[in-house]
Amino acid sequence: MAGNWKMYKTAAETTAFFEKFAPLVAQSVHADAVICPTFVNIPAAVAATQGTRIEIGGQNLYWKNEGAFTGEISGPMLKAAGARWVIVGHSERRQYFGETDATVLQRTVAALEAGLNPIVCVGERLEQRESGNTESVLKTQFDGGLAGLTPDQFAKVTIAYEPVWAIGTGKTATPEMAADAHKFIRAQVAAKFGAEQAAATRILYGGSVKPDNVKSLMAQPDIDGSLVGGASLEAVSFSLIVNF
Ligand code: 13P
Repeated sequence: MAGNWKMYKTAAETTAFFEKFAPLVAQSVHADAVICPTFVNIPAAVAATQGTRIEIGGQNLYWKNEGAFTGEISGPMLKAAGARWVIVGHSERRQYFGETDATVLQRTVAALEAGLNPIVCVGERLEQRESGNTESVLKTQFDGGLAGLTPDQFAKVTIAYEPVWAIGTGKTATPEMAADAHKFIRAQVAAKFGAEQAAATRILYGGSVKPDNVKSLMAQPDIDGSLVGGASLEAVSFSLIVNF
């Protein structure tokens, strides 16, 4: 269960969140709980979660370890700051910051080389769903990104299916729609990396996940967790999702 905080919260708000959130999920051994704050708040988040089972991630990374790349952050820097995870290829990065399947692959490899667990996002836009192209979009994203990994690399990847039209809109995919997409993605994994790997791969659903819809989504066999935006910003709300 991962929270993507996007561009929200100061360091003080980050610390206050964890003071409330950590005791609420202390017994949640059934799930990994991850929060991805903004880069500048990773140190505050790491400090606030020391000695808890909550892990911290970044929201993006650059694929070079260091260099003259103003404004970028590398995998080794995230790792040194105490992050264990990193989101790669979020639709907002694809939409506003020129992310492509090729750069998603470069960032995923960089994350793995830095010893971070990448959460790689895929998902169709509304017009792609309405024109019946959801599966071809997912296949293109998979083939152009994740399929370029070696089996050893892929084994450490978590996939997040986030239909773009369901992000921040309150329009959740129905559990059946999400389940169909997850099943399709898992079939791509099976075709490329084998049935055993497909069964072991965690595929998260993201897009307007809330405490009141998490149970029906998680009841679907191919949905292994969720990547939560808005509802992860408030401690009680995200704890209800982690503890579904
Ligand atoms: P919301 O939960 O706010 O719809 O955001 C989903 C998301 O983009 C998580 O990465």
